[in-house]
Amino acid sequence: MKLIVEKNYENISRTAANIIADKVLAKPGIVLGLATGSTPIGTYKELIKMYKEGILDFSEVRSFNLDEYVGLDENNPYSYRYFMNENLFDHINIKKENIHVPDGKAENMDEYCKDYDRLIEKAGGIDVQILGIGENGHIAFIEPDTSLPIGTSVVELTEDTIVVNSRFFNSVDEVPRTAVSMGIGSILKAKSILLLANGRRKADAINSILECERISTEIPASFLLLHPDVTIIVDEEAYSKSK
Ligand code: F6R
Repeated sequence: MKLIVEKNYENISRTAANIIADKVLAKPGIVLGLATGSTPIGTYKELIKMYKEGILDFSEVRSFNLDEYVGLDENNPYSYRYFMNENLFDHINIKKENIHVPDGKAENMDEYCKDYDRLIEKAGGIDVQILGIGENGHIAFIEPDTSLPIGTSVVELTEDTIVVNSRFFNSVDEVPRTAVSMGIGSILKAKSILLLANGRRKADAINSILECERISTEIPASFLLLHPDVTIIVDEEAYSKSK
């Protein structure tokens, strides 16, 4: 595991975008694993900037997002597909047919989830997976539990996550209780992983990985320690409990 400690959020975003940019330049048909939430917004802004400056070309890039709320479609401003359109896809030249965000309204969810993992495999697997981390140690929507889903699945959100994510909604009652999320196996199959975290409220979660001696399903992010190519980029606040 490689750890990069940056001064602040802007620096995390620039460093992450530079790592991703190098990979896109080296492999124009790269498969990106993408996350939503507050954390990657700055990285996406940097990537958009590089596209607008003519440094990056996304015309051959393929992408797979980690998760989506069950019941929301891309026209719903609270959906992750809408978020991705607003914060990245609408501003770069990625082809619509190369974008994959789990469908929160799929009819047969079990079949759909299996197909999502098959589609990733057919694309050659994820080259670089971008991750944020929940305050409770979740990655994607893989919540702390006594066991974790291996493949893409429908998952129940914990009360903690519902409350934390309610900041994106009008009220906590509007937050869906379930989501479609890649599983821990889907994530660990990525060739490389970039986990980003900023702010003091992520310090415990980051510390629980950095100080981890035994992986635990109660800290889903601890499974990343089994992966051979993980880079964690944090700011000083997120690192503050690990010094
Ligand atoms: C989002 C996702 C989540 C977030 C995590 C952190 O696609 O999978 O695991 O990365 O909840 O969210 P933020 O970045 O909003 O603090």
